[in-house]
Amino acid sequence: MIDIFPIDQLDLERKRVIYRVDYNVPMEGTKVSDETRIRETLPTILMMRERGASIVILSHMGRPKGKRTEADSLRPIRAKLEELMNLDIQWADDCIGDEAESKSKALGPGQILFLENLRFHPEEEKNDPTFAGKLQKHGEVYVNDAFGACHRAHASIVALPRLFSTDKRAAGLLLLMELQFLQKVTHVSDRPFVAVMGGAKIAGKIEPLEALVKLADSVVIGGGMSNTFLAAQGRELGDSLVDHDSLEVAKRILASNGPKVILPTDLVVTDSIDKPTRVETISVEKGVAAGLKAVDIGPRTVERFTAAIAGAKVVFWNGPMGVFEQEQFAVGTKKIARAVAHANAMTIVGGGESVEAVNASGFADKISHISTGGGASLEFVAGISLPGIEILQR
Ligand code: 3PG
Ligand code: MG
Repeated sequence: MIDIFPIDQLDLERKRVIYRVDYNVPMEGTKVSDETRIRETLPTILMMRERGASIVILSHMGRPKGKRTEADSLRPIRAKLEELMNLDIQWADDCIGDEAESKSKALGPGQILFLENLRFHPEEEKNDPTFAGKLQKHGEVYVNDAFGACHRAHASIVALPRLFSTDKRAAGLLLLMELQFLQKVTHVSDRPFVAVMGGAKIAGKIEPLEALVKLADSVVIGGGMSNTFLAAQGRELGDSLVDHDSLEVAKRILASNGPKVILPTDLVVTDSIDKPTRVETISVEKGVAAGLKAVDIGPRTVERFTAAIAGAKVVFWNGPMGVFEQEQFAVGTKKIARAVAHANAMTIVGGGESVEAVNASGFADKISHISTGGGASLEFVAGISLPGIEILQR
């Protein structure tokens, strides 16, 4: 088991806490479409306030690549947090610099300051120690609850806590809970262990998947990710999203652990995601015609996947089965959410969209653990060490 410094050991009385969270929540314009990641930090915030701390909140949002973009501003998230806590929360337009520093220094016990997106500075993703030094000025203590970002060796996750002595840095209640649940998966003795994978972002997921296939009894793959596997088998995919850079790894996974991999046998295809004029179900064997793209798994595939999930004792799900944002193409994802919720198993769901699917289908309370990490929970379950957790280990 991983032994990590817990928040209880910190002296928080009249201390300013630098609190790193992952409020990179799914958005529709400036509206938060799923607030799970925010809600899950409230117990830690309440506890720190009760213990007499003031709090400086740090987070990233989106992938603005070191530039200031209105679309990736954390302002709407601050408003959401104010609403959830029914409390005034201060704001600074930059996470470093004079304005932010003077505001953090002026905080009294129980007060909260929310700082703008860390990723507006390129140094964040470079794990830059000088940038970390500027962030350090905001507090005397460091607490990390950003489980969703712990697989990133970024400045606020690694270089910053390194600047605090071990009695002044710790994991918050959310990070501790994530570890407690996810370690149940990595220490499973209950079998079969079925992993369900999907989503469009394949590049960062295929390496952990390669590790996960070795640990799981079977891996069900749908959504954008399955296109790449089907292409690796030589299937026709038409205009579907295929990650050509990941084809080699997909081939390697199929060659070494092919029998464990369960892929779609039918797909829902369309001519256009935004303005579909043609929507049909095709068999994978026949292939996707040129001009059409796969957007959901078909009904035969839903049955196949449901059967695999129903027989499991442990289920880990990461990534939707299709273009879930579009109601019309969310059918497969919702059916998989139902299957996971009804499995007589320990079930863990991670990743913004799969969590959204589970919440939207009303099955959230039937899932053993909803993780606030997507890539992070996947890497953790695949046995990969996360830099943000390593730095907090005893
Ligand atoms: C996530 O949403 O998975 C985390 O916030 C990390 O974001 P990233 O993949 O852009 O690093
Ligand atoms: Mg994301």
